[in-house]
Amino acid sequence: MFLVLFLVALLAVLHACSAAVPPSTPARLRSRQILEDIASGMNTTTNHATLLGVDLSTDKQSYYTVVSLGNMSFRVALDTGSSDFWLVSSACSSSVCSSLPRYQLGYSSSTFQAVNGNNSLFNVSYADSTVASGFIARETVVLQNLTIPQQAFGLMNLSNVTLNNDISGVLGLGFPRLSTISSTVANATPIFASAASRGLLNYPLFGLSLRKNGTGSLTLGAIDASVVTNRSAIEWHDVVPFAPFNGTNDTTASYLQWAIELRQTWVNGTSVTPDPTYSQSDSNTSLALLDVGSSGIYGPYQDVERIWSQFSGSRLVDQTNGQWAMPCDSSETITFNFGYGNFTLQPTDYLVGPVAGDSYYCLAWPAATSPRSDGIDWQLGQPFLQSVYSIFSYGIDTKEAPLIGLYPLHNATDVAQTASVVSSYFSAASATVNTALPNYLVPTPSYTTPDYIFNTSVTAPAGLIVSSGLGASTYSPVLGTGYLNLSAIPTVMPSPTIVTLLITESGGVSTSVSTASQASITLGEPPGWSSGASALHVPFMTVMFSSCLLLLRLFL
Ligand SMILES: *[C@@H]1O[C@H](CO)[C@@H](O)[C@H](O)[C@H]1NC(C)=O
Ligand SMILES: *[C@@H]1O[C@H](CO)[C@@H](O)[C@H](O)[C@H]1NC(C)=O
Ligand SMILES: *[C@@H]1O[C@H](CO)[C@@H](O)[C@H](O)[C@H]1NC(C)=O
Ligand SMILES: *[C@@H]1O[C@H](CO)[C@@H](O)[C@H](O)[C@H]1NC(C)=O
Ligand SMILES: *[C@@H]1O[C@H](CO)[C@@H](O)[C@H](O)[C@H]1NC(C)=O
Ligand SMILES: *[C@@H]1O[C@H](CO)[C@@H](O)[C@H](O)[C@H]1NC(C)=O
Ligand SMILES: *[C@@H]1O[C@H](CO)[C@@H](O)[C@H](O)[C@H]1NC(C)=O
Ligand SMILES: *[C@@H]1O[C@H](CO)[C@@H](O)[C@H](O)[C@H]1NC(C)=O
Ligand SMILES: *[C@@H]1O[C@H](CO)[C@@H](O)[C@H](O)[C@H]1NC(C)=O
Ligand SMILES: *[C@@H]1O[C@H](CO)[C@@H](O)[C@H](O)[C@H]1NC(C)=O
Ligand SMILES: *[C@@H]1O[C@H](CO)[C@@H](O)[C@H](O)[C@H]1NC(C)=O
Ligand SMILES: *[C@@H]1O[C@H](CO)[C@@H](O)[C@H](O)[C@H]1NC(C)=O
Repeated sequence: MFLVLFLVALLAVLHACSAAVPPSTPARLRSRQILEDIASGMNTTTNHATLLGVDLSTDKQSYYTVVSLGNMSFRVALDTGSSDFWLVSSACSSSVCSSLPRYQLGYSSSTFQAVNGNNSLFNVSYADSTVASGFIARETVVLQNLTIPQQAFGLMNLSNVTLNNDISGVLGLGFPRLSTISSTVANATPIFASAASRGLLNYPLFGLSLRKNGTGSLTLGAIDASVVTNRSAIEWHDVVPFAPFNGTNDTTASYLQWAIELRQTWVNGTSVTPDPTYSQSDSNTSLALLDVGSSGIYGPYQDVERIWSQFSGSRLVDQTNGQWAMPCDSSETITFNFGYGNFTLQPTDYLVGPVAGDSYYCLAWPAATSPRSDGIDWQLGQPFLQSVYSIFSYGIDTKEAPLIGLYPLHNATDVAQTASVVSSYFSAASATVNTALPNYLVPTPSYTTPDYIFNTSVTAPAGLIVSSGLGASTYSPVLGTGYLNLSAIPTVMPSPTIVTLLITESGGVSTSVSTASQASITLGEPPGWSSGASALHVPFMTVMFSSCLLLLRLFL
């Protein structure tokens, strides 16, 4: 019942997702200090970590990477707010599939495994009301150096999810409880959980670097040492467990979303204390989901309205989407705090851009959204995640609870950007938002507050260690209570030799200027195989790829 509600309401690809159940006790704040160094016991001879290049789609809606299945390569949008991995199948007849690289069913990949005679169906609904459905199968999935055999995934044949830039599907990186595919088929754990529970990684975590210039990295089993240069500056936060929770270690599904507690926000130094939608939540803290699948920042109306009231000249311009506009020459900062340091966004971080018809006004984040029945009030998407390096530590059975590490990339004490800096930033980007602002006062949106779905008399303790469902207990804990051993976190470095790959659509011509081992890729088409489709020549699209060098650090 809960699950059904989640699946309908929570999953999100290109937009906001999910929600959480706030525990009744405040999340334990973790010490940033190294309390005790322990021997990690990790095995230096196993280098199970990988770094994948990440790029921003031209519509700036999704960060994507490239995965391979059965000799076919695909761009997939990253999403930490959902947990299903699916690809467009060659059987898809929806218009969204028409020009996309697809998983070729007719190729009969030798690593393909049918599930229930191709009759186990999945149907994922995202928070923006889009859906994707099809059937479930298994394949060997290759993420650069990481190979995951028999991974369950969805072959989509009907959808209205917007897919641009030859992106063929969604790679959900959330917890299994949120997965439609896991709830449909036995032993069909989502991809990251699958790697962690099988012990395929050096450490059960992944890291995200999302640059404003549209590049970045996804590291699996390690963090990107080229970005994190001072580990002691990483803040660690307990991931919030979600009810129903009954207080025993046997509860395998206590984790649902990559959500942490938001404690305070400031506009140019003036505090705006979050007001959680549901009283069941911790008092004065709100739940924030870190969602790479969301292109914006969203909060509850009662908070977002108070934030915008601090901006002179700002006004609500879209009641339906809870969108505000502000004079483009304002220079306030917006600061988020989760219990330790400040994370401050400058105007060039939170402004969307000047409005085409009225360049005095800029659209800006945060936008207000209607209350979610699971208690997640804030969704911190790309504009926030670009300002930090984010680490998603999955937790280890019986040893360690899931954590989120945030490593600031901005100096929170920097003064606000001047209007001229902001203006030259947007002229260089030469992009305006193609919208017209209403020339009347937009009325306050009216939202209905659905019933809170996790009512339970049993509280869920933060930092909850569960006995199954997380990373295999063969991992040695390094991020646990009382023994934060930062030097034992494995790292991976992008190679200094950046390889530029020219990638074409299925049926197109591919060319490569690469000098390194990795040659060119034709998306959605196995080498030497032709679907018989006419070879439509399409413009080249470039992807920055890095071959990588693993540096495993384990001592102390
Ligand atoms: C490390 O892994 C190698 C290869 O799997 C194995 O032979 C060796 O015994 C392991 N060493 C330790 C200390 O676990
Ligand atoms: C990939 O292609 C090679 C060469 O054609 C073939 O031997 C191999 O079986 C293919 N792999 C899969 C998974 O189909
Ligand atoms: C399942 O689909 C695959 C790919 O189209 C096909 O090769 C296989 O024969 C199908 N299996 C069944 C039992 O229909
Ligand atoms: C998938 O679910 C949505 C929303 O629940 C529904 O509208 C749609 O008909 C379903 N699609 C399929 C193919 O079952
Ligand atoms: C997508 O399809 C579903 C189910 O048919 C529908 O409820 C939803 O409104 C559609 N969303 C969009 C954005 O088209
Ligand atoms: C993007 O920004 C990063 C860090 O600021 C830089 O190292 C990289 O070269 C830039 N890439 C491009 C294509 O501009
Ligand atoms: C859960 O397991 C841990 C470690 O085994 C133990 O210390 C703790 O007391 C257990 N808690 C409960 C509620 O059983
Ligand atoms: C507590 O968890 C156990 C193990 O998952 C389950 O069997 C039991 O029904 C749960 N009790 C309550 C009251 O939810
Ligand atoms: C965060 O910023 C606010 C407002 O500028 C300030 O009062 C507070 O001391 C800062 N907190 C930290 C930890 O720097
Ligand atoms: C941040 O900026 C302040 C003032 O400009 C400066 O004193 C401080 O050293 C900077 N901190 C970092 C980590 O760069
Ligand atoms: C915001 O603070 C900066 C100093 O950091 C100041 O220069 C600016 O005038 C302030 N903006 C407003 C609108 O108060
Ligand atoms: C990935 O594999 C390549 C080629 O086998 C190797 O050179 C590289 O070091 C590996 N990278 C990692 C992060 O293991």
